[in-house]
Amino acid sequence: MPTDLERIYGQLGFADRILYSNFVTSLDGVATLASEPSAGSVISGRNQADRFLMGLLRACADAVLLGAGTLRATPGHHWTPEHIFPEMAAGFSELRMKLGRKPHPRLMLVTASGHIEMSHPAVQGGATIVTSEQGATELQGRLPASCDVIEVGKSGAVDMTRALSELRSRGYEVLLTEGGPHLTGDLIKHGLLDEAFITISPVVAGRDHEVRLGMVAGAELLPARRLWSGLLSARRHGDFLFLRYGLRRS
Ligand SMILES: NC(=O)c1ccc[n+]([C@@H]2O[C@H](COP(=O)([O-])OP(=O)(O)OC[C@H]3O[C@@H](n4cnc5c(N)ncnc54)[C@H](OP(=O)(O)O)[C@@H]3O)[C@@H](O)[C@H]2O)c1
Repeated sequence: MPTDLERIYGQLGFADRILYSNFVTSLDGVATLASEPSAGSVISGRNQADRFLMGLLRACADAVLLGAGTLRATPGHHWTPEHIFPEMAAGFSELRMKLGRKPHPRLMLVTASGHIEMSHPAVQGGATIVTSEQGATELQGRLPASCDVIEVGKSGAVDMTRALSELRSRGYEVLLTEGGPHLTGDLIKHGLLDEAFITISPVVAGRDHEVRLGMVAGAELLPARRLWSGLLSARRHGDFLFLRYGLRRS
C-alpha cells in the first residue's frame, strides 16, 4: 500500500484469486431505498470514510461486478476509485501500478434481460456485459465500441459459477462486487463470495410500504443453510463501523 493510503486505513491485502463485496447498510440493515437513486449515498450520508473505503476497494480490483439493477439505480456514476474519492486519485493509481493492475478496473454488468441504458456514462466509458445468448441478442447493434459481451447459457439468469470462470480465463482474478442484493444473493447462494466488506451507518432507515432490501435478496439461507462468517477486521471512524468478514462455505 502507498503510505498515504496505509496511513488512513492500515494494511490491506487480498488473495491472488478472490471475490469480495462492499455494501453500506443502515443500523437496521437496510441497503436499498426504492424511491431514491444511489441508495448507498443516502444511507451513508456521503460519509467520507465510506467513500474512501469504496475507492480503496475499487483500487485493489481487476474488475467491478454489478447487477443491472444497480446500474439503473445509479445514474451518472463511474465505478472507478477516483470517481468516488477524487482526493486520493494519485494514491489509488500508485496502488494499482504496484499491484500490476490496469489503470482502471473493468466494469462487468450482469443482466438476464439485456436492458442496459447505453447512454449511462459508465457504459459509454467501457463495460463487459455478462448475459445469456438471448440477452446478447437484445444488445445487438446497440453497444458502444468500448463494450464487449460474455455469453453464458441460452436464456434467463446467468450461471455465475460459469461466468466467474469466464472472467478468470480472461485474467480478471481479483474481483469486487458492488451488488446489489439480488446479484449478491446469487453469488452467496452458490458459494462464490469469499469476503464481504460491510459499512454500518448509524442512520435508522425503517421499513413499511416500500420494498427495502438488505444485503441479500433472492436467496433464503437460514434455517436450512447455516452460513457462518468470520470477522476478519473491524474499524471505526466516528459513529461508522467498517467490518470485513470471511464467508465460510459451510
Ligand atoms: N447499500 C449499498 O451498498 C448498495 C450497493 C449496491 C446496490 N444498492 C442498491 O440496490 C438496489 C438494486 O437492487 P437489485 O437487487 O435490483 O440490484 P442488482 O442485483 O444489482 O440488480 C438486479 C438485476 O441484475 C441482474 N442480475 C443479477 N443477478 C443475475 C444473474 N445471475 N443473471 C442474470 N442477471 C442477473 C438482473 O438484471 P436484468 O433485470 O437486466 O435481467 C437483475 O434484475 C439499488 O437501489 C441500489 O442503489 C445498494
